Amino acid sequence: MEKIKESVDFIQGKTDVKPEVGIILGSGLGPLADEIEGVRIPYGNIPHFSVSKVPGHKGNLVIGELEGKKIVAMQGRSHYYEGHSLEEITYPVRVMKELGAEILMVTNAGGGINKDFGSGDLMIITDHINFMGANPLRGRKEFIDMTFAYDKELVELTAKIASEQGIEMKEGVYIAVCGPSYETPSEIKAFEKIGADAVGMSTVPEVIVAKSLGMRVLGLSCITNMAAGILKKPLSHKEVIETTKKVEEKFKKLVREIIKRID
Ligand code: HPA
Repeated sequence: MEKIKESVDFIQGKTDVKPEVGIILGSGLGPLADEIEGVRIPYGNIPHFSVSKVPGHKGNLVIGELEGKKIVAMQGRSHYYEGHSLEEITYPVRVMKELGAEILMVTNAGGGINKDFGSGDLMIITDHINFMGANPLRGRKEFIDMTFAYDKELVELTAKIASEQGIEMKEGVYIAVCGPSYETPSEIKAFEKIGADAVGMSTVPEVIVAKSLGMRVLGLSCITNMAAGILKKPLSHKEVIETTKKVEEKFKKLVREIIKRID
């Protein structure tokens, strides 16, 4: 709590904006934050924030206005696979909540497991499977209900906006793995059997912490590639970033409208 206060005091020293919505922009999805009018603070300057060094992640906290809403955006996130603890990677969620955010929108790049999906699709996360083998609340003895982890009204709002914008939106279950190696084809087959539609290396820890803080959560995945073994070709981080570039305009338009109408 002491640490959070230090981070919050530092941020509030740079802006008077009290954000209502927090958004985490995943791999390649950061450009939206450039459109926010407000202040940009590199993570490295904020007390107790960890810095991500993954290509495609800028590493700024951006606080300001977009579509008439006060928001705080993470332009890039740090990951468990970089060696940070789950406590460290979820710390910014605690700070966003303390700054005032009651809603958390999490975005990520993911591999498509569901064979109806294709590269470049967007998926609303309706539920998740934590396959990281660890939990960010470990040590806290908080038995958080996860039955309604992803807010039904926000899922419906997003589906409605997507349909208005002519986007063929997918919905499904996101499974989180540790990474950083991609999965084997056998792992993907197993994940399909246990009910996963997309796989990625983030998001679930942040969602668990957001729920423990009583926040409403919306999750969006950009399907950047089909998961291992589905298309019988190798996967690469380059492909992931290239796909996010292709969907950038569609993604930004959708998210801007969600922010406008979310409450
Ligand atoms: N697997 C795991 N994480 C990912 C993938 C994938 O195929 N694509 C983007 N992030």
